[in-house]
Amino acid sequence: MNELFDLKEKTIALSGGTGVLGGSIAEYLVQNGARVILLGRSPDKLDAKREALNTISEKSAASYVVDVMKESQLISLREKIRDNHSKIDGLINLAGGNLPGATLQPDQTIFDISLSDTKEVVDLNLFGSVLPTIVLSQLMAEQGKGTIINISSMASKQSITRVLGYSMAKAGIDIFTKWMAEELATKFSDKIRVNAIAPGFFIGNQNRKILINEDGSHTERSKKILAKTPMNRFGDASELNGMVHYLLSEASSFVTGTVYDVDGGFNSFTGV
Ligand SMILES: NC(=O)c1ccc[n+]([C@@H]2O[C@H](COP(=O)([O-])OP(=O)(O)OC[C@H]3O[C@@H](n4cnc5c(N)ncnc54)[C@H](OP(=O)(O)O)[C@@H]3O)[C@@H](O)[C@H]2O)c1
Repeated sequence: MNELFDLKEKTIALSGGTGVLGGSIAEYLVQNGARVILLGRSPDKLDAKREALNTISEKSAASYVVDVMKESQLISLREKIRDNHSKIDGLINLAGGNLPGATLQPDQTIFDISLSDTKEVVDLNLFGSVLPTIVLSQLMAEQGKGTIINISSMASKQSITRVLGYSMAKAGIDIFTKWMAEELATKFSDKIRVNAIAPGFFIGNQNRKILINEDGSHTERSKKILAKTPMNRFGDASELNGMVHYLLSEASSFVTGTVYDVDGGFNSFTGV
């Protein structure tokens, strides 16, 4: 592999590494010689994913049970990374999700929304990246280098019906990415970079129900999404790998504070 794109021996921590997109990214990283540290709440899912990754490449994966909303757990994770892995080259914040009460049904209005669910969704999708970034980037500040990737969404750019809390959180991710990029580069090192990827529409656990009917056909919402996507299809999780690879590698050494769309053209097209 060209040195510019070399990921060998890099240690990359991922939240959401047991999910659809994070799981696919973790496999790709291991296949390309990186070591991954999986972070998640479910010990069973973590064990299964870690073992699957270690089958691809021996001793390539470790895992820790961590709730990304719990600062104390993240602080103890930071010390475990310091003791057990000696360094961290990258952090990818993929933990996210939605709640039924925060997702309006087609026949509901804003006055039917559950405010407590909405707050919880904002917490997970915004602070679920803010907390790990702030706690773990301290290691990067000490090392003088490291790369962080946050996961934004099309919902941060223009309004998308039904998902208010999720949209507010992802808009927060965009400015948090820019803010941290400036903070870490100016006060610590130009070798600490923070960027975000805004995926278009991929079928994941959190959105499957509103995109795919029980009989496997596209919902009305899916049809609208595809009509506004010039490529006229959903993304495949593997199509995030190229951008992840670029942002983690030296190839992007002068790139920070940027949010990259990987969306089949959705964000560039008016739909007309
Ligand atoms: N799929 C799409 O079309 C799409 C589009 C744009 C953006 N995104 C974003 O991409 C990211 C991944 O999406 P996905 O579709 O792969 O989701 P997914 O399959 O539902 O996976 C969600 C992951 O988040 C973890 N998680 C949730 N709450 C957590 C917590 N409190 N602490 C630690 N881990 C937690 C889950 O692990 P546990 O079960 O162990 O908690 C799981 O690994 C999310 O940020 C999502 O918003 C997805």
